[in-house]
Amino acid sequence: MGDLNETFGLAGRIAVGTGAASGIGRAVAEILAEAGAQVVLGDLDAEGAEGVAKSIRERGDAAVAQGCNVGSREEVDALVDRAASEFGGLDVLCNVAGVPADGLVESLTDEEVDRVFAINLKGTLYGCQAAIPRMAARGGGSIINVSSGAIDLPVPGFSLYSMTKAAVAQLTHSLAQEVGDRGIRVNALAPGATITNFTKRRLERDEDGKIDQASFDQFVGSMESMSPLGLVGEASDQGYLVLYLASDASRFCTGQIWRSNGGATTGR
Ligand SMILES: NC(=O)c1ccc[n+]([C@@H]2O[C@H](COP(=O)([O-])OP(=O)(O)OC[C@H]3O[C@@H](n4cnc5c(N)ncnc54)[C@H](O)[C@@H]3O)[C@@H](O)[C@H]2O)c1
Repeated sequence: MGDLNETFGLAGRIAVGTGAASGIGRAVAEILAEAGAQVVLGDLDAEGAEGVAKSIRERGDAAVAQGCNVGSREEVDALVDRAASEFGGLDVLCNVAGVPADGLVESLTDEEVDRVFAINLKGTLYGCQAAIPRMAARGGGSIINVSSGAIDLPVPGFSLYSMTKAAVAQLTHSLAQEVGDRGIRVNALAPGATITNFTKRRLERDEDGKIDQASFDQFVGSMESMSPLGLVGEASDQGYLVLYLASDASRFCTGQIWRSNGGATTGR
């Protein structure tokens, strides 16, 4: 057995993460950097991503940020190129950026379907495509996509989002078969309810725009009741799993969907 700090650590690794200005993407960026990786942070919210990169640099770790709309192949290519120009290559890619989508199937418009597929599915696909040659050139790497617990628990009015996340899971299964011989591993998280801006978006707000505490408590209670542990997730719960999947500790794992959901889908 090797040194555990080395096996679970990322010293000398170069990582790119999208959705890094907020929630899970932010936690991923902070945890990978703390584990020793040099990180490139992309987000539509360029200012937010720069704020996260700055706080990582202030801790003494290496981070740069760049505005990136993952729905644009050019912008995703440019983000991955930044890892090479800034730090010399790419070892880890975390495709975290994603958006929710509400609406019954019968009323979905082409415009909305195209918008959500462009971000949640094509954005992830573009990242994978940009990463493959860069990782292959270094003898391998780890791609971590973000699917969702919504692929297991259908919810009325959330079908479009769930379709994109099921497609991300399938992309993960299929790509793992195609790139394993180049030393590239491909895994996906399927997070359960994790408290971020994503989960808070539908909560009632008071006249100042602050989330109404009673509505927040009710939401958290309903999510906790789905877990045998009685828990909802924090962004770091997803971030620590990403660290495992990015590190050599998971060298035998690829093509898997990791259900980090407090057990919410296990009793069904
Ligand atoms: N929070 C949950 O309960 C939960 C559960 C399952 C899956 N997820 C998935 O986790 C991922 C992260 O979600 P989160 O909970 O951290 O949400 P969040 O809203 O806190 O963060 C999402 C980030 O993605 C960025 N983003 C949105 N559109 C983008 C685009 N086109 N290009 C680049 N960046 C863009 C946002 O600016 C934001 O910083 C998403 O893919 C989401 O679908 C979240």
